[in-house]
Amino acid sequence: MPRLLKFIGVLLLALGVLSGLGYWALARTTQSWFEADLSLRSRLAVTAAHESLINHWRSDPTRLAQTLADITRDERIMAAAACSNKGERLASTQTFPLAFSCTGLMNELQERRTTGAWDTKSQLPAGAVHLSVIPLDDGTLRLGAVVLVHDLSFLEHREETARDLLLIAFFVLALVASLVTLLAARLAWRGWTLDLRRALTGQVGPDFKPLLRDVRELAARLADERRQEVRAGAWSAARLRATLTEHLHGERIVILANREPYVHQRVDGEIRVLHPASGLVTALEPVLRACSGVWVGHGSGSADRETVDAKDRIRVPPGEESYSIRRVWLSEAEEQGYYYGFANEGLWPLCHVAHARPIFRAEDWQHYVNVNRRFAHAVCDEVDTDDPIVLVQDYHFALAPKIIRERLPRATIITFWHTPWPNSERIGICPWREELLSGLLGSSVIGFHTQQHCNNFIDSVDAFMESRIDRETNAIVQGPRRTLVRPYPISIEWPVHWLAQVPSVEESRRLVRSELGLDADALIGVGIDRLDYTKGIEERLSAVDELLSRHPEFRGRFTFVQLAAPSRTKIARYQELNERVEALSIEINAKWSKGRYRPIALLREHHEPTTVFRYYRAAELCYVSSLHDGMNLVAKEFVAARSDERGVLVLSEFTGAARDLTEALIVNPYDLREASDALAAALRMPDVEQGERMRSMRRLVSDFNVYRWAGRMLVDAAELRRKERLSGRIRDSRHSQPGALT
Ligand code: F6P
Repeated sequence: MPRLLKFIGVLLLALGVLSGLGYWALARTTQSWFEADLSLRSRLAVTAAHESLINHWRSDPTRLAQTLADITRDERIMAAAACSNKGERLASTQTFPLAFSCTGLMNELQERRTTGAWDTKSQLPAGAVHLSVIPLDDGTLRLGAVVLVHDLSFLEHREETARDLLLIAFFVLALVASLVTLLAARLAWRGWTLDLRRALTGQVGPDFKPLLRDVRELAARLADERRQEVRAGAWSAARLRATLTEHLHGERIVILANREPYVHQRVDGEIRVLHPASGLVTALEPVLRACSGVWVGHGSGSADRETVDAKDRIRVPPGEESYSIRRVWLSEAEEQGYYYGFANEGLWPLCHVAHARPIFRAEDWQHYVNVNRRFAHAVCDEVDTDDPIVLVQDYHFALAPKIIRERLPRATIITFWHTPWPNSERIGICPWREELLSGLLGSSVIGFHTQQHCNNFIDSVDAFMESRIDRETNAIVQGPRRTLVRPYPISIEWPVHWLAQVPSVEESRRLVRSELGLDADALIGVGIDRLDYTKGIEERLSAVDELLSRHPEFRGRFTFVQLAAPSRTKIARYQELNERVEALSIEINAKWSKGRYRPIALLREHHEPTTVFRYYRAAELCYVSSLHDGMNLVAKEFVAARSDERGVLVLSEFTGAARDLTEALIVNPYDLREASDALAAALRMPDVEQGERMRSMRRLVSDFNVYRWAGRMLVDAAELRRKERLSGRIRDSRHSQPGALT
């Protein structure tokens, strides 16, 4: 109700302003009409008396005065005078105001050099008057002019009357408008409440039925999901397993990912099992450990061939053996063309805004096609039903979904793209953009980290493919097949199993400081990455430099430890990066070193997860400065490591993680001032604030863990599978009916 009163107030005000403007416009218009009217009447009066005026002009002043008196019989004409060319007053009515002299008026007429009449307004003590000076001639010569004076007081009177009428009209209008508004509001409210009441009691009109059905379905679904969530508890390995059994009847899953989760490497004559530095592996390995199945990947370790069985399989994890890795072998040329070439010199820079130019070579593409085919066939060889669930991972395998679909038309293929998906203009750079899109559309579901990447993908399909886009369900329809496009922000396992093997926070702090030769109270920041140009490592080190120059209190006290795992080292751009990072750390160290103190510790080698987690625990802050990153799981791992609820995450706004971890200090890594200030703020942050931020981020990562990520995708896939099976049955039954339309 107060809102309604406000509305009426505004309505009245608007009506008032409008009436004021209306009155002003009306007054001006009517006045100019009245004046034009007076001028016309004057001419008519003089024309009517023309003959009499000429006849008595000079000869008979009395008769001339009489003629002028006759003219003033018109109720608007107040006085009249006859003026000679020389300005003498030949005759006038008694009412003619003394203020007007014939000399002045005739001079004015001559100055105007007009043959016609002129009109003017003047103000006399008695009020405003209108003067019409009308020249008079006898057909050959101008004799002089007749001056007529009109009383304008009636005009003022009319204006007053018009104003009064307008005011009355305004009040009536305002009153009616307010009443109508009140009435309409009451009726609408009553109508809505009636509709709502009827809706709630199940009696609705036809207009509301579809809407209400949707609302009821949505409410029921939400309530159902909520009930299930509460009943099922937090997402965990056990819940993921149960989901797989419940929704997919315990079927195994097959993961296709280039990087294998366990690499067997010969080191000093011994076989060692290594865990690669890969966000993809960090996320997916716990999923496959939770469910049974097979991971089809590239056998890249120097001892990989020695450790597989006759079918190129090995049971992992060592000691647990809960799933298999099926290794696919690549020749050097294949690895060069498919992995280093097309995937990492072409697609990787294409998908990241990190200022590296994509390189597309026809021979690399050919290898990419062949290797995709080989891996896809390996997947098909590993399945044990004709409708398996296959999880295809990342930009290495854009073509595999279509190849798998050709061999296994009933397969449920979920593809997850771990990097950002660029906009359609950028994807248009790739000479084989249509083939990539067509390959991916072999999937049942395509997942990206963010809705933005989903939108970019849909736009790319729109730009380059023949298909129908169902924007309501975010699906791409090609003939009878649909591909759902969905955001599934990836995460990590919770709790992280590695932490069981990592010393406590206190112990980790002590160990790391002693390993690095630092004082016990030294402040530490960490950065943990593959040595990749998308990670913004140079910007990160420069931000440390800026911190020390702008915040002198940290000189000699703060050390930034960069753990950098060598990556894609055969690619020139990566070799260049390696050299630049090294040169930059030498330069910064030279600038700020003092005694034993070095501000940068660059550790360029592979580090096993237990070491990585020890560093997370030892640090005051972790700086993730990616220039562009699909998600970045380092940020989530740091949060998981900090069971002490201390430590500050400084996070690039260009990571997918920045959308989830909003309690981090979010920075633009290109802005060194901002980044260095954030580092300083992190180092100065009181424990209480650290605790609040860290607790909130830990809650988020524990709730939205990787089991939930996988579970959601599997549930969506199961739903799609049910629908496809049903529509398949419907199609089959139609086909089997005699005479059925096909
Ligand atoms: O970002 C995509 C991604 O697959 C990451 O998940 C992973 O960290 C990286 O690329 C793998 O790189 P590579 O397998 O070339 O070492």
